[in-house]
Amino acid sequence: MANDAPAVSDAPSPHSQSLADPFAPPADSSLWRKNFLLGAATASYQIEGAVNEDGRLPSIWDTFSAIPGKVLAGDTGAVACDHYHRWEADVDMLAGLGFEGYRLSIAWPRVMDTAGVPNRKGLEFYKRLLARLKEKGIATFVTLYHWDLPQHLEDRGGWLNRDTAYRFADYADLMSRELAGSVDGWMTLNEPWCSAYLGYGNGHHAPGLADARYATQAMHHLLLAHGLAMPVLRANDPASQKGVVANIGRGTANSGSAADQRAAHLFEVQHNAWILDPLLEGRYPRDLFELWPGTEPLVLDGDMQTVAAPLDFLGINYYFRTNVASDGAHGFREVPLQGVERTQMGWEVYPDGLRDLLIGFKATYRNLPPIYITENGMASDDKVIDGRVDDMQRISFLKRHLAAVDEAIKAGVEIRGYFLWSLMDNFEWAFGYERRFGVVHVDYATQKRTVKRSAELVSKFLKERKARRE
Ligand code: FCB
Repeated sequence: MANDAPAVSDAPSPHSQSLADPFAPPADSSLWRKNFLLGAATASYQIEGAVNEDGRLPSIWDTFSAIPGKVLAGDTGAVACDHYHRWEADVDMLAGLGFEGYRLSIAWPRVMDTAGVPNRKGLEFYKRLLARLKEKGIATFVTLYHWDLPQHLEDRGGWLNRDTAYRFADYADLMSRELAGSVDGWMTLNEPWCSAYLGYGNGHHAPGLADARYATQAMHHLLLAHGLAMPVLRANDPASQKGVVANIGRGTANSGSAADQRAAHLFEVQHNAWILDPLLEGRYPRDLFELWPGTEPLVLDGDMQTVAAPLDFLGINYYFRTNVASDGAHGFREVPLQGVERTQMGWEVYPDGLRDLLIGFKATYRNLPPIYITENGMASDDKVIDGRVDDMQRISFLKRHLAAVDEAIKAGVEIRGYFLWSLMDNFEWAFGYERRFGVVHVDYATQKRTVKRSAELVSKFLKERKARRE
């Protein structure tokens, strides 16, 4: 995910205080509950590397990152965290830290050839990985599509081509037949907003196209792909939970004026309702086409019922809020706030946004499914000094966002778990390796992993929680 906010941290922040235990949630927090799952998340292209091994085909991110100027410093995912070779040690590290869940994604180009024939070597990699996670007692949450579309499908139009949705259903069919029984939670798509808007609407992500009409059509085909895959997953792997992951954004109005309030509403329409209305109510929000006139996608009869297939859970990714004002026409423009705490991405640290959105969704959607927070975290310019990484802003960030989750639970939202982004530093899409989101530091020259202070403190809490249950 990305925006163009300035990368500044210009306010004093609470993480400068030193506290006895700067992480542990208060005693009455729902995070101590037995059935609240705490995990860490990653994604295939961001960590695996080994892009030419064992029959893996090129993905749109291999193509995109090879184009000069598309990714900071010309970085690519060719090696990334070399997880394809180091996965056993990485799982040991995850288990050693005490994480109870792991959200990973499958690289579609690794498991099928251009004709859709299964690639056994690619499948074996994920089978071994999931078996090892199970052995360690870690709950497995698997995303089918975290942005690495096979390039040969993009060559035929990618998400602008309706046929891609059917190819996705075939892929979901293969994976759920092969991996049935070893996945606790399936997620069809990660953040369709990013795939559609950043990939086809403004060109910031692969495949790098930029037209609002493309964005809405790509979104429709993504959501259709999700809807076609859901019954397939249910049929092949009935015992697992199935859902989809949306990145949600909080928009706040720069003033109390009606025009600015409307602008904030429209910001959230394109960020949240564009995805959640079709998924939960089987229709696109009308306001979307007021914001982007003339961009109505081609929708065939029956599509919206397919898109709105019942969900067992909704995955929510949350990072920051955007302050907006009216653009004087039918839209909004961002007005960055001064004097607020920001991260290395320039994103404002705003935990209330997570709480308010969750409570708002509960009020808006009668059939809101149980929620997992499938990503939340922050980037900082972490350095290893004398073998240690003191990422105090991250500790404070995680603590404050977990408190926001607790508040939403106390307000009646059913939230079953939280996966921090990310287990380790990795390839942050258009920002390459410069932006470090991990609770484990990765030295890309040596592939050495160093557990950051945040991971130590999260781990301490996880172990204490476990001890209390025994
Ligand atoms: C999300 C992506 C994830 C990661 C975080 C920072 O948009 O799902 O892969 O890049 O942002």
